[in-house]
Amino acid sequence: MAQQFSEFLAELNARVRLEDVVGEYVQLKQKGHRYWGLCPFHSEKSPSFSVDASAQLYYCFGCHKGGNLIHFVMEMERMEFIDAVKLLAERAGLEVPDRARSGESQASAQLREAVFAANRAAAMFFHQRIWSSEGAQARDYLYRRGLNDADIKHFGLGASPSGWEETYQALLKEGFEREILLKAGLAIDKNGKTFDMFRDRVMFPIISAQGRVLGFGGRAMGDAQPKYLNTQETVVFNKRLNLYCMNWLKKERGIARVVLVEGYMDAVSLRRHGVEGVVATLGTALTAEQAGLMARYAPEIWLSYDGDSAGQKATLRALDILEAQNARARVILYPDGMDPDDFIRSRGAQAFRSLAPMDAFEFRLLRAQDGLDLTTQEGRTQYALLACEILKRVKNPVELENYVSIVEKRTGFERDVLYRQIGTAPVQKPPSARPRRIAPAKAPPDYVLAQRRLVALKAANLLPDGAVRAADFDDAVCRALFEGLCAGRSPGELVGEAEDGEARAQALGALEDEALPQDAEEALKTAQQCLGSIRRHRLEEQIAAAQREIAAVGEGERRKELMEQLNGLLAELDRF
Ligand code: UTP
Ligand code: MN
Repeated sequence: MAQQFSEFLAELNARVRLEDVVGEYVQLKQKGHRYWGLCPFHSEKSPSFSVDASAQLYYCFGCHKGGNLIHFVMEMERMEFIDAVKLLAERAGLEVPDRARSGESQASAQLREAVFAANRAAAMFFHQRIWSSEGAQARDYLYRRGLNDADIKHFGLGASPSGWEETYQALLKEGFEREILLKAGLAIDKNGKTFDMFRDRVMFPIISAQGRVLGFGGRAMGDAQPKYLNTQETVVFNKRLNLYCMNWLKKERGIARVVLVEGYMDAVSLRRHGVEGVVATLGTALTAEQAGLMARYAPEIWLSYDGDSAGQKATLRALDILEAQNARARVILYPDGMDPDDFIRSRGAQAFRSLAPMDAFEFRLLRAQDGLDLTTQEGRTQYALLACEILKRVKNPVELENYVSIVEKRTGFERDVLYRQIGTAPVQKPPSARPRRIAPAKAPPDYVLAQRRLVALKAANLLPDGAVRAADFDDAVCRALFEGLCAGRSPGELVGEAEDGEARAQALGALEDEALPQDAEEALKTAQQCLGSIRRHRLEEQIAAAQREIAAVGEGERRKELMEQLNGLLAELDRF
């Protein structure tokens, strides 16, 4: 099976040209074997995004996003792997091998489809009903909460009937089987009798990025408990993997941040005031999967939970989850007890936009003050201890310095004491004449760049066979790529095999070189320079090793031997 699927992928890649697919989203200009355009993944004025037609890879030399054909569709369409494959297959007129569709069996695929269909019908039933006289109470409820008819339409809100089995009967009439309605969580079985799951509630359909109804949240209009009733877990609805308003988020390309709220009403309310990128969890605490999902849509996630103490505690937990996913997070603080909906309704969209979100550690340091009295020495001491515990997790020394000065101001303890408590040395103060500056990301050393360039030459078919050997590489990533290319694998395939984003970035860094020579003669010259740089580095390492050994041995034969060896190495180095 696996074999068959990889053959299918090879055929797909052979039939669909990356530059054609990219060309549908980005205006491309050809220069040699590369096409250039404005990067669709970050905003820029001059093109640094390129499609390498021979390697069938895209790469942005500005933001370093890149990948193969399937990656491109996943990123642009925000699709999962298998959906991107399906889309491309359709375009190429190929059939995706059946069981490869994420391994699900025919029967369970059918069940999922049936549940989706029932959900969709239910959503339409609830929505139509909200415009009828039976829906007046739900409509009035939403009006009172500040929504208008356009909002109700936009979010597909609805009203569930108050009877015991009205929804059930209506859907049966539409041809849905009892079994499916139970499996969709729309109906429940009690001793063989069937009842509606949602009765007399305002209905919020939860719609996936692909536009399918996964389930519902139902808000009671009075004091009925629970306040919100959510669809149970079903074959299509997993509260850990999905988010409310994903269908809208998916359309918001290039946003700077995702705003995460806790409540359906909060999401609706912020969005109707024009705030973009808002999603909500589904009645459970934030999960790692949801954090990863949001991180795919924007470089930052702003937590916008209720201002009450439960909301603040949930924010602290969510920050930890986001941190574990390496997602950058900030926190929007609301005046005590307010939630996002209260805030934007009472103060307006302008006020919302002027709320400056706090960074994660600032927020943790703020919350650590809760319950402590910083006007007493005891309170300040306790706070300093708590704060230092928190700051142990700050990785970047420059950032740590900032936080330490915050704690210094709040507690009066000296920096050195705080640093000792944290367990790290303070940042060395740079000479006072020079302004402080954060060092730019370090470029890899020459001999690694040389190895990358050799890989890029090989990928572009610019190296004659035998000119370079695998043994010339000591960088593991470069060597593996080189060996793969020699074995006849395509660059796109090799990038597709990268285990994670980091590995993919490394592979692309090697395979994609902006300044490759265009002809074979130049290429050979470049290759020789690269080999020279690698050999030189090896010599330098051997020399350093010899010097270390000389320093360690006493007078005698061995020392003489080593000195001779060293002289030989130094002479060789001179020849470069
Ligand atoms: P909230 O009670 O804060 O939601 O619960 P909210 O949107 O602010 O509620 P109202 O309508 O303005 O009063 C936050 C979220 O927690 C889940 C729901 O997802 C809700 O949107 N929740 C809450 C439940 O699942 N069940 C409940 O009984 C209450
Ligand atoms: Mn609320």
